[in-house]
Amino acid sequence: MKMSRAQLYRRIDQAEDGEWEALIQLAEQSPWRQKYHIQPVAGLLNDPNGFAFFEGEYHLFYQWFPLGTGHGMKYWYHTSSADLVHWKNRGIGIAPGGPFDSHGAFSGSAIEKDGKLYLMYTGNTRSPDWIRHPFQCMAVMEPDGIITKLEQPVILKVPRGYTDHFRDPKVWKADGSYYCVIGAQRLDNTGSVVLYRSPDLMQWHYAGELGTDLNSFGFMWECPDYFELDGTGILLFSPQGLPPQGDRFRNIYQAGYLTGRPLSLMDRKFHHGEFRELDNGFDFYAPQTTQAPDGRRLLTAWMGLPEIDYPTDDHGWAHCLTLPRELSLENGKLMQRPVRELVKLRGRKTEVRTVVNDESLSIAELAGTAYELLVEIRDDGASRFGIEFRAGCHERTVIHYDHAEGKLVLDRSLSGQSFALDYGTERRCPLQLRDGALTLHLFVDISSVEVFVNDGEATFTARIFPERESTGVTFFAEGGRVAFDAIKWDTQY
Ligand code: FRU
Repeated sequence: MKMSRAQLYRRIDQAEDGEWEALIQLAEQSPWRQKYHIQPVAGLLNDPNGFAFFEGEYHLFYQWFPLGTGHGMKYWYHTSSADLVHWKNRGIGIAPGGPFDSHGAFSGSAIEKDGKLYLMYTGNTRSPDWIRHPFQCMAVMEPDGIITKLEQPVILKVPRGYTDHFRDPKVWKADGSYYCVIGAQRLDNTGSVVLYRSPDLMQWHYAGELGTDLNSFGFMWECPDYFELDGTGILLFSPQGLPPQGDRFRNIYQAGYLTGRPLSLMDRKFHHGEFRELDNGFDFYAPQTTQAPDGRRLLTAWMGLPEIDYPTDDHGWAHCLTLPRELSLENGKLMQRPVRELVKLRGRKTEVRTVVNDESLSIAELAGTAYELLVEIRDDGASRFGIEFRAGCHERTVIHYDHAEGKLVLDRSLSGQSFALDYGTERRCPLQLRDGALTLHLFVDISSVEVFVNDGEATFTARIFPERESTGVTFFAEGGRVAFDAIKWDTQY
């Protein structure tokens, strides 16, 4: 469904008669609608925005183009949840179309102040020659959920030295002041992050570029996020334009982080270690975090990537968000675990313990299309072992450990309708087994899988588009014995 520029830059109130209803109907009939992930009723979802706990509920917005599956006129769509598991669709959060966001309300974040939730976002306009002009805008949500845009942007200009790729403010509060990081492209077409400070969220003072050692690391850094965990500063961002390096940087664009000494405004220099990708899978971009009332740092991301056609494009909808995850820092590395509230999704429980010896064993009790599967694996001499799931006559998605390489591999070459083939069908992550043990924790939904490895040491996130009938689960081992202890919960939503 390719659209012209004129079609892409329509607002939802400019839809033709019946167009919107027809799109929703088309999406509803899609065989790949998710069961328990946040997804748009129709149209295209991308980045999570404005993730915050406010007035007893989590609020999570996302970038949304209602009238098709292209990256057109962007809105903020609003969802909320009391438990991070069951989400209510609340309708449009921020509609574009004002003098400072005539061509889209781009990504941003939320922070509470004096009983209101402030939503800071990038408004985009375009001049007649299609040159982009970004403004950092503010909208305010009252406790009753009513959102009002402020008339004037809070940051009007791009600072000197940067191009119009200047967007995605992420706000936080420290020592009585507000700060925000914004993704910026230097005039030499390299990506960076700049820092602002404000006493009141209204007046923002430019504090300069946030110095890192990555002076030529891609052409743009989108969706930065800064927070501290256990006294360590963490900068997340989504760099664009990194060439692949072995198993790293295999997707069109990356999402990752740096850890270092907490940021000090005095020197604005972030002393950090190496850039690490957050996820080892295929479809993970533009993550955003927030702090839960109990202090946990929560993260969610777009389970998709820009500039790639997905199989549901023909069904009038595209993409979903990842499950919310809890972050912790262990040995300088971010661990990601599914939020503990997700146990609420657990329905019927099935337990299977088995040993597989140089064979493949199909486990009928574990079959399904939407479930949580926790498998403790103990290898006793196999050269390769793993799990096939969403398996059918010609289809299967495979996660396996390869001893020769010392890597865990996600293979979606036979996962159903293929897409993004230019970027390959396998992702590999170096991983050392401890005493032959490996824990794989899978959340399988109708058209996705999220794998949490060894209690959060690594994750693999991927969209897959198998047929409904492809439900099988198989355990396999080559060249030796492997014990599998599995618990499966059917998902009830
Ligand atoms: C990241 C991104 C952001 C931008 C938004 C527009 O996917 O390109 O930089 O604000 O999407 O939808």
